[in-house]
Amino acid sequence: MAAPLPIAWLNGEFVALAEARISPLDRGFLFADAVYEVLPVYNGRPFLFNAHIGRLERSLNALGMETPLTRAEWATLLTELIRRNGPGDQYVYIQVSRGAEFGRNHAPNPALSPTIFLMSSPLSALDEAVRKCGVDAVTVPDERWARCDIKSTSLLPNILAKGAAARAGATEAILLAEGHLREGSSSAVLTVRNGVIYAPPEGNEILPSTTRALALELARRLDIAIRLEPVAESDLRSADEIMLGFATRGVLPVCRLDGQPVGRGEPGPIWTQLQTAFEGYRAAVQPLPIHLEA
Ligand SMILES: Cc1ncc(COP(=O)(O)O)c(C=O)c1O
Repeated sequence: MAAPLPIAWLNGEFVALAEARISPLDRGFLFADAVYEVLPVYNGRPFLFNAHIGRLERSLNALGMETPLTRAEWATLLTELIRRNGPGDQYVYIQVSRGAEFGRNHAPNPALSPTIFLMSSPLSALDEAVRKCGVDAVTVPDERWARCDIKSTSLLPNILAKGAAARAGATEAILLAEGHLREGSSSAVLTVRNGVIYAPPEGNEILPSTTRALALELARRLDIAIRLEPVAESDLRSADEIMLGFATRGVLPVCRLDGQPVGRGEPGPIWTQLQTAFEGYRAAVQPLPIHLEA
């Protein structure tokens, strides 16, 4: 993964990322009492701005925190951070913690000001090898908490799962619980059987993925049938196609699961259609200015 770009934003100021400092008493550091977002940036503009900022607002709300900036203020801030970090596609990381206080107190202090941090990193285009051969995934048990719909920085089980995938030479760890598919350690998972997309319904067990929402919308426009229902582990293992959705990478085809070929072991026709639609959608919307939705 490429090194982050040099300019960050911390609590109201643009700063050199290498110089940025926060207190060790920050609740994000002490308790992972923080939420985050990751937005891709193409052609100098955040992609799916309202979906990402809307999810950040939802995560903050779930922690009982106010949203610290309006959508118009987020748009201005993101545009300036992206401009300062120069041309080329990027992805912006936003983290909002409940703030720093004097001492280590579990109960949140409502008087604290949040710590707001943004940085940006280069975003690489889809790898030709992935386009041709897809990626590997492994399955692991889902050991996370009961509110996986909140995009919290408390990611230890996700990190352990991703570590297991890396040790197996795979791109992603797909999480299973009670004999069913949940999602990836940092991605949404869609499966295909007989031309129909199957994926678990939204709920507390999975993150509401921006990429999955767009992929499903594009599938509807292509008249591809969609069933949002629990996906049994056996159906995952015998799927014709498996796809991962990440904001930073789009939709990727999984061609090997636990070392076994998925379908024919190559990117499938539904992924190919969605990828073409995804690229077309991006090319159509990215020249447009940010449109702020409520
Ligand atoms: C656990 C988890 N699920 C799903 C996703 C995909 O969400 P998005 O498509 O908005 O990147 C992510 C992305 O970070 C994630 O961490």
